[in-house]
Amino acid sequence: MPDVLDFFVSQFKSSLDATNEPSRYFSPRPYRNAAVRFRGSSMTDFEERRRILVREAGLNVFLFRADKIPGCDLLSDSGTTTMTMEQWAALLLGDEAYGSNEGYFELKEQVGATFGTAWRQKPGLPVGEREPLYLFHQGRAAENALFSVLWRELKRAGIPKHRTLSKSLQPTLRARIEHRISAVCGGSAGPYEPYFVIPSNSHFDTTEGNIEDKFMVPVNLPCPEHLANDESFPFRGNMDLDELENLLSSEPDRVPVVYLTVTNNTGGGQPVSMENIRRVREITRAHGVPFFFDACRFAENAWFIQQKERGYRDKTIEEIVHEMFSQADGFHISFKKDGLANIGGAVCIAQEGAFAERHPHFMNALTDFQIMTEGHPTYGGLAGRDLKALAEGLRTVTRQDYLNLRIGQVMRFGERLLENGVPIVRPIGGHAVYIDIDRFFDGAGRDEDFKGIALTGLLLIAGHRFCELGLYAFGSSDGAREIPPDPRVNNVRAAVPRLMYEDRDLFAAAEAVKILHDHRDRIPGVRVDFGRDLKLRHFKSRFSFAI
Ligand code: F0G
Repeated sequence: MPDVLDFFVSQFKSSLDATNEPSRYFSPRPYRNAAVRFRGSSMTDFEERRRILVREAGLNVFLFRADKIPGCDLLSDSGTTTMTMEQWAALLLGDEAYGSNEGYFELKEQVGATFGTAWRQKPGLPVGEREPLYLFHQGRAAENALFSVLWRELKRAGIPKHRTLSKSLQPTLRARIEHRISAVCGGSAGPYEPYFVIPSNSHFDTTEGNIEDKFMVPVNLPCPEHLANDESFPFRGNMDLDELENLLSSEPDRVPVVYLTVTNNTGGGQPVSMENIRRVREITRAHGVPFFFDACRFAENAWFIQQKERGYRDKTIEEIVHEMFSQADGFHISFKKDGLANIGGAVCIAQEGAFAERHPHFMNALTDFQIMTEGHPTYGGLAGRDLKALAEGLRTVTRQDYLNLRIGQVMRFGERLLENGVPIVRPIGGHAVYIDIDRFFDGAGRDEDFKGIALTGLLLIAGHRFCELGLYAFGSSDGAREIPPDPRVNNVRAAVPRLMYEDRDLFAAAEAVKILHDHRDRIPGVRVDFGRDLKLRHFKSRFSFAI
C-alpha cells in the first residue's frame, strides 16, 4: 500500500516540475480570492464602446472610461495592484496622526529590511536627521523633487560656461547627445544652456520630462543587444558599458548621476543583469560619479537575475535585492509597481554613498521640498493608512511564489500571443508584453499613420485596453515632420496588473489581438486631431480613424 502512495506522490511531484509542460496547470495560484468585483459592462456592448471611443475619448485610451471595459484593462501595471487581505487589514489600522504616524516607522523599517543595510536608518540618530528615505505620493513627484533640488545644488556649485562636447566622445554618441541638447534648448532651457547630461540604460518618459524641465539632458545608453529581439540574450535592459566609459572619461564634469532603470520599462520590461549593475558601479566609482536606480520593478528584476544569471539560482530574492542595492548611492521608486501599493513613491539616498558625500546639503533641501510640496516628511503626501499598506506590500513582493506566478503569467500571455502569430518583443519582459508594431504591420505603412494608436482603438472596441508606447508616445513633432524616438521603439504595451487577472482573461485579450492581426491589412491609420506638437503628447492628444 505505501508503494502506491509513493507512486502517486512521485506522479504529483513530476507534474510540478517546471520543465514539464502541463505543470503550469497543475500548480494552483499561491493565493485564493478573498473578494471579487463583478464587471459593470458586457463584452457584447460593442456599439457603446465604439461611441465612447470615437465621440468621447477621441481614440485616446487614457480618456476611455474604465467601467466600460469588460475585458482586460492593461493600460498600466502602476497603482492597479489588487491588494492582499493583509494590506486591507493594514489600511484599517492606519494611524492618521499629522506627524510621525505609526505607519511611517513601520515603512522605514521595512525599507531597510527590503533593500538592505545601506537603506536602514542608523540607530541612535534622531528622527529626521540624514534619513535614507524621503516619501512622495508617487514616482514622478519623487523625480521632480530629486532633479529640482539637484539642479539647485549644481547651480549653487557653479555651472561651467557652456563649451562644446569633447572631441574624445565616440562620434555617434556625441551626435546623439548634441541632438538631445538641441531638443532641450528647443523646449524649456530658457535662459540656460543645458550643460549636465544624465545617462541611463533607458529613462522612463516622466523621468526624462523631469530632467529636461530642470535644464539637464537625459541620454539613453542601451546595450547593443537592446533591439536584437533575440531570446538568446536574457538581459536586454543592460547599459552599454563602452558608451558609459567613453562618456565619463570624456566628460566627467557633465554627469551628476548615472541611472539604471530596473526593469527597463521603455525598452520592453527587460531586466538588467547583476554583472551589468556591478560594472556600472565600477565605472561610476572610478570616475567619482554617483550611481542611482529607478527602482520601480526591482523585485521583478531580481527574479530574472535569479532565474537567468549564472550563480544566482540558489539565492533568495531578498539576497539578490540586497546585493543589487548595495551597489547604489541612491534610488527613486514608484511604489505603485513593486510596492504592490495603489499610491506611493520615494527618493532614497545612501548616507555613506558618493551622492550624499558630494551633496551634503541635499538631504536638508530635499526635506524642505517635501514640506513645501507634499507635507511633513513623515507622511510625504500619503495617508497614514497608505504607508501601512505599502509596508505590507513590500513584504509580499519579494515572495518567491508570488514572483513565479506573476512573471510566469506574463510569460504565458506572451506565449499565447506568439502562438497566435503576433510579433512581440522577446524575451518577454517582467510586467508587460510589448507588441512590435513595425513587425505586426509587416513594416508596411508610414510612420505618420500611427498604426499603434489604431490598434489600441480597435482593441478597446473589442473590450480590452492596451497602450501605445512607440512612435506617438515617445516620438515628437518639430511642426513640419515627425521625429521618431531614439532609439526607435514602436510598441503597443499590454501591462499586466499585479494579482488581478487569471490566465483566461489574458487569453481572451490575446484572441482579440489575433483577430486584428489576421486582418491587419484592413486596419486604417489615424489622423491626429489635437496635440501633435505638445510635450508628453500621448496623454492629451485626440485622434480619428483615417477612413
Ligand atoms: N519610472 C518608471 C520606470 C516607470 O515605469 C514609472 C511609471 C515612473 C518612473 C513614474 O512613476 O507613475 O508613480 O509617477 N510608469 C507607469 C507605467 C505610469 O504605466 O509604466 P509614477
